[in-house]
Amino acid sequence: NMMREISGINEMEKRLQSLLNLNEIVIVPGNSDESPWVKEELGRASAFSIKQRLEGNNIIAVTGGSTMAAVAEMLTPDFSGSDTLFVPARGGIGEDVKNQANTICAKMAEHTGLRHRVLYVPDQVSKEVYKSFLTEPVIKEVLNLIKSANMVLHGIGDAITMAERRKTSPDDFEKITAGHAVGEAFGYYFDESGEVVHKVPTIGLQLEDLKHINHVFAVAGGSSKAKAIRAYLKSAPSSTILITDEGAAKELLKGF
Ligand code: F6P
Repeated sequence: NMMREISGINEMEKRLQSLLNLNEIVIVPGNSDESPWVKEELGRASAFSIKQRLEGNNIIAVTGGSTMAAVAEMLTPDFSGSDTLFVPARGGIGEDVKNQANTICAKMAEHTGLRHRVLYVPDQVSKEVYKSFLTEPVIKEVLNLIKSANMVLHGIGDAITMAERRKTSPDDFEKITAGHAVGEAFGYYFDESGEVVHKVPTIGLQLEDLKHINHVFAVAGGSSKAKAIRAYLKSAPSSTILITDEGAAKELLKGF
């Protein structure tokens, strides 16, 4: 529309799509670091983009975080022409209940009138307990669903912000800082060149699984996340659709 042309958003989308090698990019006006309503716009834009790509049957794997929670709020009952299931992408990676993938999937199901499954994985247990846990039929069943997802919705965060927000152990924190991590997604911490310097060990989707997934939606905004977004995109699959805001987009363009 007219507003987008005047503010140069369409132009920024074109430039960033080719510079960052993306399947598609959507930029919403504003900067989520400064205005909380911009996250709602990210949610609205994501809902629109996802809807366009729904097939008859869908399994949508979702990560946690406040941006994903905002996406959940914007999903609507018109998703329900499809047979769609929401599943958390990975086991617990240390978020508050309201920002956990399980909670977000439940919200997505509630707002669309569709189904969801939960994956309850304890965050801090011994290797033995963890291993026996994985033999549980319900866990195996949900893991199989996750591995057959045709869509992924995920957030991206600043590495240090995420390491602090999770209860990261001093040893792991040291790995993250010594490795100069700048970005985080799926529990993986990336340095500026996109190398993984630390990974939160948990079950579910792994980074290499993303290659086989048709539609990967990365949703992250705010100028403070530009470094993180750029780092993550260096190893992201080419099927990635980035949904971001003007704040992050302007900062991203400065890097070229
Ligand atoms: O912890 C889940 C997660 O998706 C992280 O992978 C990501 O860095 C973070 O949440 C983003 O959180 P927020 O949307 O609150 O910035």
